Amino acid sequence: MTAQSPNILEIGKDGLGNLPPPKHIAIIMDGNGRWAQQRGLPRVTGHENGAAALRTVTETCCEIGVGCLTVYAFSTENWKRPVEEVHALFGLLEHFLAAELPTLLANNIRLRAIGRLQELPASALCALEKTIDLTSHNTGMNLVLAINYSGRAELEDAVRSVCKEVAEGLLRPENFTQEDLQRHLYTRDWPDPDLLIRTSGEMRLSNFLLWQLSYTELYVTPKCWPDFGREDLLEAVLDFHRRKRRFGGI
Ligand code: IPE
Ligand code: IPE
Ligand code: MG
Repeated sequence: MTAQSPNILEIGKDGLGNLPPPKHIAIIMDGNGRWAQQRGLPRVTGHENGAAALRTVTETCCEIGVGCLTVYAFSTENWKRPVEEVHALFGLLEHFLAAELPTLLANNIRLRAIGRLQELPASALCALEKTIDLTSHNTGMNLVLAINYSGRAELEDAVRSVCKEVAEGLLRPENFTQEDLQRHLYTRDWPDPDLLIRTSGEMRLSNFLLWQLSYTELYVTPKCWPDFGREDLLEAVLDFHRRKRRFGGI
């Protein structure tokens, strides 16, 4: 083991040691339902424990100096779930925002959100906007909640905005480049994720950040999200440091 690659025991107390943190980590927080099912508990208890895991992982990311943490909290496809579960999830979101505000402020974290937010239940949207506003002057890590998010819907919205610019004469079609698309993405303020973590073992993207994950390192763990803690996050980041990113080069 070299000084460049400490093992998980060495980093336990000391975060990542000397290793630089990824600038942007994205997480598909999956497996709350299975976690609950395995324990004979209602799915909503899984979501409650998932919210607790998010707090721990957010604090760990802050501690190691991650610039941006984007978490998939609710997809546009998740409306297909029973109405009681959807209702419970938005109730939990409101509770999470209120309960975590002191932690966000204490850690200098700026909360942001991506997705078709205007379609959220009014009180959830109101709580979200309030928390975004109250943390807007923070200068530390960005915690980005993807809510009512879909990668394809994001691209649809971005292309629509580009079309408007063309219609208004602000952009000529022959001058259009991918940078024009990029500046209309919900994620235009942040670099693309370096590392994507998906819990509960599924090997798919489920419509998450389709454009932004082009060269992201993928890390899938069988652990369900409520069981994912500080050491798991550090282990994922260590694994990331062992990757050779080539971006098409040699
Ligand atoms: C992730 O856990 C949370 C949301 C999608 C809102 P799931 O609820 O998808 O848990 P599983 O996949 O059914 O176990
Ligand atoms: C992805 O998980 C969405 C979130 C984690 C919010 P899903 O549980 O909805 O994904 P699928 O249905 O297994 O692809
Ligand atoms: Mg799932």
